Amino acid sequence: MEKRHEGFVTVGMRPFRRDSFPMRLFQKAKRLGIWNPSDIDLSMDKRSWLAASEEERDGLLGTIAAFQAGEEAVTLDLLPLIQAVALEGRIEEEMFLTSFLWEEAKHVEFFQRFMQEVAEVGERDLSDYLTPSYRTLFYERLPQALHRLNQDPSPKNQLIASVTYNMIIEGVLAETGYFGFYDQLQVLGDDVFPGLMEGIGKLKQDESRHIAYGIYLISRIVAANPDLWEVAATEMADLMGLAMRFVNERMQYQIQKYGRLPRDQDPQKVLTYAGGQYQKRLQRLDRARRQSLAEVEQEAIAIDLNA
Ligand SMILES: [Fe+2]
Ligand SMILES: [Fe+2]
Repeated sequence: MEKRHEGFVTVGMRPFRRDSFPMRLFQKAKRLGIWNPSDIDLSMDKRSWLAASEEERDGLLGTIAAFQAGEEAVTLDLLPLIQAVALEGRIEEEMFLTSFLWEEAKHVEFFQRFMQEVAEVGERDLSDYLTPSYRTLFYERLPQALHRLNQDPSPKNQLIASVTYNMIIEGVLAETGYFGFYDQLQVLGDDVFPGLMEGIGKLKQDESRHIAYGIYLISRIVAANPDLWEVAATEMADLMGLAMRFVNERMQYQIQKYGRLPRDQDPQKVLTYAGGQYQKRLQRLDRARRQSLAEVEQEAIAIDLNA
């Protein structure tokens, strides 16, 4: 059937939800998401790079490569979810999602600048840094979960897409990645890689809005379809296993090659952090199955106000 509109929200089909949680995120995105990756000064980072040991550079480049490929993947794979939301006429959510995709594109640009201007990787193939579990997650599970929406944008498929994208890739892997990054950079000294630190700080803020939207999306789907909770929980557990394997593989790579992690970082610290992030999200989503849509909205706003 040819797609047609039954009316438009902004001219009275239903009230435009200006105070809704997605619109709050949109307002935030317009205030905080406007940083320009091209403006970040990387000249001091170049010095830090030259001063770093071979082992430290290898560790850092592995992390950067994983982030870079991940940002490209999430940029490539978000569109089917935006499309699914748009098909349901959720204009407020789609408005926020325009900033979401734009921000992912900026993250791609930021890491590309670091790779080319600081690490000077040129045409070098860095895909050896992408471990087997990473490949399963980013080459297969993420695109499969998202592009399935093109054929069938059902609530169940939207739930799986958001669990994969927002909860695991952004919520566990990216957040654990930032944590590991700070850990990695902090041990190198106070003023090292200031441009990278600045960019990661901005990225982290952007990602917190993306994750907040994901939690909201999943919560509203679960609140409207409590029987789908099992699907979300099973998918989360399965993907979390893969994510933890990846974190381990990254650390094993360094340990096997150099007999230790750079500057003896504690691997348990990173794994504990990743597990904690996962538990926090799981508990929030678990509450959603006993909540009404209005309660989901209220809780999202309350958490945002306290953040
Ligand atoms: Fe990103
Ligand atoms: Fe993101």
